[in-house]
Amino acid sequence: MTNAYEEAYQRSITDKEGFWGDAARDIVWTKPWDRVLDESQAPLYRWFAGGELNTCYNAVDRHVDEGRGDQAAIIYDSAITGAKRTISYKTLKDQVAGFAGVLASRGVGKGDRVILYMPMIPESLVAMLACARLGAIHSVVFGGFAPNELATRINDAQPKAIVAASCGIEPNRVIAYKPLVDEAIRLSAHKPDSVIVWQREEARADLSNPGDIDWALALETTTPHDCVPVAATDPLYILYTSGTTGQPKGVVRDNGGHAVALRWTMKAIYNMSPGDVFWAASDVGWVVGHSYICYAPLLLGATTLVFEGKPVGTPDAGTFWRVIAEHKVATLFTAPTAFRAIKREDPDGLEIGKYDLSSLRALFLAGERCDPATIDWAEHKLGVPVIDHWWQTETGWAIAANCLGLHLYPVKHGSPTLAAPGWDVRVLDDTNHEVNPGQIGALVCKLPLPPGTLTTLWNAEARFRQAYLADFPGYYKSGDAGFIDDEGYIYVMTRTDDIINVAGHRLSTGAMEEVLAGHPAVAECAVIGISDDLKGQVPLGFVCLKAGITTEPAQIAKECAALVRDQIGPVAAYKQTVVVPRLPKTRSGKILRGTMQKIADNEAFKMPATIDDPGILPEIEEALESIGLARKRV
Ligand code: COA
Ligand code: AMP
Repeated sequence: MTNAYEEAYQRSITDKEGFWGDAARDIVWTKPWDRVLDESQAPLYRWFAGGELNTCYNAVDRHVDEGRGDQAAIIYDSAITGAKRTISYKTLKDQVAGFAGVLASRGVGKGDRVILYMPMIPESLVAMLACARLGAIHSVVFGGFAPNELATRINDAQPKAIVAASCGIEPNRVIAYKPLVDEAIRLSAHKPDSVIVWQREEARADLSNPGDIDWALALETTTPHDCVPVAATDPLYILYTSGTTGQPKGVVRDNGGHAVALRWTMKAIYNMSPGDVFWAASDVGWVVGHSYICYAPLLLGATTLVFEGKPVGTPDAGTFWRVIAEHKVATLFTAPTAFRAIKREDPDGLEIGKYDLSSLRALFLAGERCDPATIDWAEHKLGVPVIDHWWQTETGWAIAANCLGLHLYPVKHGSPTLAAPGWDVRVLDDTNHEVNPGQIGALVCKLPLPPGTLTTLWNAEARFRQAYLADFPGYYKSGDAGFIDDEGYIYVMTRTDDIINVAGHRLSTGAMEEVLAGHPAVAECAVIGISDDLKGQVPLGFVCLKAGITTEPAQIAKECAALVRDQIGPVAAYKQTVVVPRLPKTRSGKILRGTMQKIADNEAFKMPATIDDPGILPEIEEALESIGLARKRV
């Protein structure tokens, strides 16, 4: 007898159009699709071609129309300011329609881009949904990125408007956003027409530039705007993510496939029902925030919890449990690093015992490889299924998961379990051949990808093809390496590129190298990710100085850290730099970053056959020892 997962999986692979066509019936369409899957431009695929809908209608208005208007759509809880608010679907509809009116009054319409630079407040969701209501394309930029990064995204997306809050609030400081936005606009060639600001009392913004608008004041003089039907294949949003260079990749998500897939995942993967409280403790600036703070819970008619704070320190390691108990959270989704932080502060889980967690049914983890010890701790302390699942900004939802709403498989620590329905995951070697179970290779997914995944990169289709489709024809290259065991369990081991994962945040070491190379004393540099007990990985820079530079290494390190913080942002968590005389390279001049990482993490490594001068490695080892890394091997 097959179980519900096996049935769903088989059908999703052998009868894609039937499977997703059925799922699409849960979405309200203003015009039905002509084809569930349009393969005419393969290897570029389009889902629900010819169909029309409005994502905001499906996430907000329909619930009011169907009688859920008084149910909570959003619960807001700021562990930093103490603010708490519950917003019903009816109120959310009014707020979103009102703000859509504000955007429209500033000339924003279908296809226009709007950049959002917002912290964890309900207005971030209101702004995203208001864009969707108009058919405008939002691009949320995480508040931990510096003006320079914001400017890169402004130049690429060419937004008609920027929407910002007056400030973000970290536990140790209030960050005024408006000066950062102004600086980004100064740095960028493209100038938006308007900057619309939600004023927070913790730091009100000066709105004296031409085009500056006070959100709340503008609402008073504009009329609400209705939902605008868009093509299923029209972009809903662009979300920039780190690539291998300083130029981020603008992942494009469509409207139709996204709505269908995300609503389907809420039941199949997370086992949620309308009215349940879902809490993704992430940030709207990341893909998890897009999919599972904003869209998916609302598409289902569930309640989404918007949390401002940290797992520890706001005020203590019991915050998560307080929020779960107070708001009757059914499912929590966060990154393993949050649990490592809690475990470090409260190893015995004493805080857990202080709260009634009977509402909690499951914990989902993603964003980085989850160490078995963390899963084990969470399982024992919470007594609910702890489900590691693997996904990426590009995919928008899980590639592999233990699908709680279909069938709960035994957990194997270190594995996000099986490929989710829709995903034909394979492991290939360098010659594009499938490897045997248990053997490591490139994790790839057979095309077409399921609905809700990236359709292209904004303004960069050639880069899209090159980055994801070129190396393994017929497959999507995930950029992760790993293996599949003989029971189909997937293990995601490491990235195959220079992307690192710091506290569940995806960062490019290439982008950091570009910044360090701009330091006037630096001749050459390399950045690697080294292991960190709390954050999983943290960046570490190696710099070689120009001839004649006599500045103290400690001073150089301080300046490098300041430069990266200034150019990329605090989220890069770039703190450590070592000054070395030379970098180890291959004979063709490629820097041996992998070898340096192994030395730093004190792992065994093979001397690369192509190394130009093996004598450089002891120099690296010595430099690392000077900052307490790379204990000498015997
Ligand atoms: N705006 C401005 N600055 C921000 C920011 C934001 N939205 N988010 C983070 N930062 C800053 C932090 O204040 C910190 O600055 P500092 O160097 O002055 O201390 C820096 O960026 C690094 O942040 P982070 O890596 O998050 O470290 P942290 O010490 O503040 O917190 C954790 C560590 C583990 C508690 C936190 O990262 C966490 O809860 N992560 C799990 C959840 C998550 O966000 N997952 C993401 C995807 S699912
Ligand atoms: P992001 O695009 O920021 O979501 O980061 C995606 C990357 O995070 C993936 O390519 C993986 O390298 C890593 N990742 C996400 N989830 C997992 C997981 N469950 N296990 C291992 N790695 C993961």
